[in-house]
Amino acid sequence: MCLPTGNTPRPMYVEMGPAVADDRLSFGTATVFLLDEFGGIPEDDPARCAEALQRDLLDHIDLPADNFHRLDPEAEDLDAEVADYRARVLAAGLDLTILGLGPNGHIGLNEPGSTADSVTRRALLHPETKASMAAYGGDSSTDWGLTLGIDEIMTSHEVWLIVTGTAKAQIVHEVLEGPITPDRPASLLRDHPNARALVDEAAAVHLNR
Ligand code: PGA
Repeated sequence: MCLPTGNTPRPMYVEMGPAVADDRLSFGTATVFLLDEFGGIPEDDPARCAEALQRDLLDHIDLPADNFHRLDPEAEDLDAEVADYRARVLAAGLDLTILGLGPNGHIGLNEPGSTADSVTRRALLHPETKASMAAYGGDSSTDWGLTLGIDEIMTSHEVWLIVTGTAKAQIVHEVLEGPITPDRPASLLRDHPNARALVDEAAAVHLNR
């Protein structure tokens, strides 16, 4: 599976540790790929995605360490790093990809303008994404990160887009009910045969259907 970080998945992750402790859930045979990562900030910065997933989920579940894959922004050769990540994802095959929704419609660091054929790559951060980094209590001085592309996300057997809270009401309306466009990258998921949006009532207030 491919997993995101951010505020959205945290309540779900909080449920998983106790479920593993009670033998209701196991990640013993799972493989996890992290969706994205910020570059240009220290590895232990609270905004770093691997750090956040470690803290919110991995410290509390039984995923074997070798089964966790992440994009490494400290790699000397970033072109080789992203090509290798794409190859590892495609070789493993994604059964499930879970995504949050950015305030600008991004998924991962596939910012507005990302097309359906965009692959795993180094991406420039949109100003709204930098603002979220500050909100995570992190260093928002960087302007880049590494992300799984829309192309690899679309290979996933199943995709869940999770959207919560009033602040996402307008963007989730645009993504689900506006045009399918790279200007709102999450809207491209509507072309996926097995994608679903899980939207709480607060985020759903502007949905017409
Ligand atoms: P959030 O971030 O879950 O913290 O709202 C989602 C995103 O920006 O992708």
